[in-house]
Amino acid sequence: MIIAVDGPAAAGKGTIARALARHFGFHFLDTGALYRMVGLATLRAGGEPITPETAIAAARSLEPSSFTDSDLRTETVGAAASIVAVIPEVRAALLEFQRSFARKPPGAVLDGRDIGTVVCPDAHAKLFITASPEVRARRRQKELGAADYDAVLADIKARDARDSQRATAPLVAAQDAVMLDTSGMDITAAVSAAIAAVEARRVP
Ligand code: DC
Repeated sequence: MIIAVDGPAAAGKGTIARALARHFGFHFLDTGALYRMVGLATLRAGGEPITPETAIAAARSLEPSSFTDSDLRTETVGAAASIVAVIPEVRAALLEFQRSFARKPPGAVLDGRDIGTVVCPDAHAKLFITASPEVRARRRQKELGAADYDAVLADIKARDARDSQRATAPLVAAQDAVMLDTSGMDITAAVSAAIAAVEARRVP
């Protein structure tokens, strides 16, 4: 069984996807981390501005060991990930890894932007997690510790625009996705709603 969890930055999809994987005993893949690894490697190899050549080379020679790099979660690397994610060759280089991960028995939960539309269009359950930009900015600000709210909000909006407007695999809900707006929910409520939505789709 494959569960696709998509949505914009800081909507809660990572937390929900991890909780689903734990609940069902499935494998979990944070596909944003793959793009973050490419973004980080590109920054380290070529600096800014990011060039497609450097990004494509980084995507094709990705080392799974960099999954644990402590710099992956920074806003700078998140923004770089969103920039390299626009490049079709970068997306193509990461596609097979994601698809073969999704086939792992007894099941897998993948979270990202295009899981339900491109990576696993045949996923058994698809969730699209949203929340207002303001709520997401507050959550991200809390996560980052200090950070100026207006700067975080501006970054979230810029990332939404870039992720949604790109030509290849843009951030968009699959037609058969269950929409979950977590703006007014705490983690427990959001996770319960997600589990219920997946249970409703589950083949007995
Ligand atoms: O989920 P995240 O914030 O870690 O993702 C970082 C960036 O990676 C995001 O802004 C866009 C890109 N991304 C993508 O294009 N497709 C995915 N499946 C996952 C992430």
